[in-house]
Amino acid sequence: HVEIVNIAGLEARVKDHMSNEKGAFGYIRGGAEDEYTMKENTAAFNKAKIMPRVLQGIDHADLSTNLWDIALKTPIIESPSAAQGLAHANGEKDTAKGVAAAGSIFSMSTYGSTSLEDGAAAAPDAPQFFQLYMSKDDKFNEFLINKAVKAGVKAIVLTVDSTLGGYREEDVINKFQFPLPMPNLAAYSEGDGEGKGIGEIYAAAKQGIVPSDIQKIKDMSGLPVIVKGIQSPDDADLAIEFGADGIWVSNHGGRQLDGAPASFDILPDIADRVDKRVPVIFDSGVRRGEHVFKALASGADLVAVGRPIIYGLNLGGAQGVTDVIEHLNMELSITMQLAGTKTINDVKNTDLYY
Ligand code: FNR
Repeated sequence: HVEIVNIAGLEARVKDHMSNEKGAFGYIRGGAEDEYTMKENTAAFNKAKIMPRVLQGIDHADLSTNLWDIALKTPIIESPSAAQGLAHANGEKDTAKGVAAAGSIFSMSTYGSTSLEDGAAAAPDAPQFFQLYMSKDDKFNEFLINKAVKAGVKAIVLTVDSTLGGYREEDVINKFQFPLPMPNLAAYSEGDGEGKGIGEIYAAAKQGIVPSDIQKIKDMSGLPVIVKGIQSPDDADLAIEFGADGIWVSNHGGRQLDGAPASFDILPDIADRVDKRVPVIFDSGVRRGEHVFKALASGADLVAVGRPIIYGLNLGGAQGVTDVIEHLNMELSITMQLAGTKTINDVKNTDLYY
């Protein structure tokens, strides 16, 4: 087990533990430019307060929930992240196992260090998504999606906030290049990403993503498509109008547009606009069970974490990933009980105090 007092404390431990690959820690930790948005992501949760309710007869909290017909032990899921081989030799295979043990959802990134088939085989009975960075080449999109469908994923997460990489200065200073191949790319003919920088990797992706791409990916896959990287209510509307089956509110952990609002700040407006037409998934900056509570109370159905999962993977492999989710579960459970809420539905129906 990885001993965890709080999630924030993991970062320094990972920094010491991860001296193996040049710039790997900086790539994982970093945000764009001045990291204003990255810092705001976590700080913004402090603007909302949770009014404790007592005398509610609460003697335990039940964290179970579901997305469509997928039963989950927790509302906390894993955010897709690239190149997990940087953090651990077993990479995505261990993340998939660790997330499965926590009864949650793993999403394989297009830029994973593991093939999506191997990621799926590592946790064959657990729900998984495939995160797609669309290519300019629709044959490649189709090729990847066919593999994902065969591997049994439950949805495609279409990331739309990364038509190019944000300007991440730590990567510039470190001249960071992916030291490991990306088997999902290698399986086709685009090259495997090894030795390339982030700019070069994104350059092969489709820059001009348009709303009709959502339906295109739905038609190719026959699966629900969740659109990830939504930051404005108008875009949420547009995505739903063009077929999105889920809205994933995210600013990519502050790694893309510095100066964008904290993801939590814009969540209530987006949730209002979505108005329960499709599920809302939220990420960026979540480091506490209390943050999960506040996101659920602000309209999220599920809450995803990015860097904390990678840190757990680095420090303890699959078990470390499970430990991170279970630590957040523990904090969420305490928060729920002290707030006078017993179920995830109760949390969703809580009014925050501003
Ligand atoms: C990411 N993220 C990301 N998102 C995505 O859709 N595809 C990807 O390949 C990646 N890769 C990636 C790598 C690393 C190292 C990080 C830290 C993040 C973004 C990720 O899914 C998520 O939106 C953020 O990580 C959420 O913010 P927190 O929880 O890290 O603050």
